Amino acid sequence: MDRMLGRVLVIVPTYNERENLPMITKRLRAALPGVDLLIADDNSPDGTGAVADELAAADPQVHVLHRPGKQGLGAAYIAGFQWGLEEGYDVLVEMDADGSHQPEELHKLLDAVAGGADLAIGSRWVPGGKVVNWPSSREFLSRGANTYTRLLLGMRVRDATAGFRAYRATTLRKIGLEDVQSQGYCFQIDLTLRTVRHGLRVVEAPITFVDRTAGSSKMNRSIMTEALWRITAWGVTGLPTRLRRRKENSAVRWGEKPFVD
Ligand code: GDD
Ligand code: MN
Repeated sequence: MDRMLGRVLVIVPTYNERENLPMITKRLRAALPGVDLLIADDNSPDGTGAVADELAAADPQVHVLHRPGKQGLGAAYIAGFQWGLEEGYDVLVEMDADGSHQPEELHKLLDAVAGGADLAIGSRWVPGGKVVNWPSSREFLSRGANTYTRLLLGMRVRDATAGFRAYRATTLRKIGLEDVQSQGYCFQIDLTLRTVRHGLRVVEAPITFVDRTAGSSKMNRSIMTEALWRITAWGVTGLPTRLRRRKENSAVRWGEKPFVD
């Protein structure tokens, strides 16, 4: 697509997004015509898979990965990344189907990657970032999850749970996708932590996150519980290394140095 970036694939996971998928596909294709799309559908009961097939039949730059059933956001992305890496894409993007991530802002993430980021995050919680129409309970949850993540993991990333991001293929090849166990939305934190621990460069670009107007969020209690226990476990197992690093160089704040040499 671009001399600096190479080939770009946007992966959109879907579960019951029949009403949203044509809209998001159209907007992405209009905003960045050189970018390809992979829809990773978990056999949605509402027939999203058939809608995806129609979109793919009409456009050679749209592809579909049919998965047998609902296995979580993390599993859908891993399958999508594997597909994209095998196909030789250079940059792999995560984006929701419901319009919360605006395709018209994707260029910001691609610019950050072209500028040297190994992972570019579309961030709600850096200056200039916004959320529109989110209930205050959901904003509180997202801010709380990010604060807890920063405290326990020592990462400086402001929006580690964000789901609008662009990875260099080289990043995904380094961080050990094959042993990721996160199934729900903590998958986002998991991959951020792996990227930081490998000493790779994470850049946050401010975006405006717009709450969906059609369909419903798949966030639930088990996704929250999984996030809470996994963040806590990563925090505890990473603590000895953080303490050792701190002792070695007391001028360096926690989380500023890569974990992996
Ligand atoms: N294939 C598949 N399988 N797709 C899924 C699954 C699943 O089990 N669960 C959710 N999705 C898809 C949805 O269809 C949508 O396209 C996208 O993943 C995000 O799901 P939403 O249900 O819209 O998430 P949200 O709006 O509550 O949460 C957003 O914010 C979170 C952090 O605040 C997302 O951007 C999350 O990725 C992010 O962690
Ligand atoms: Mn959503």
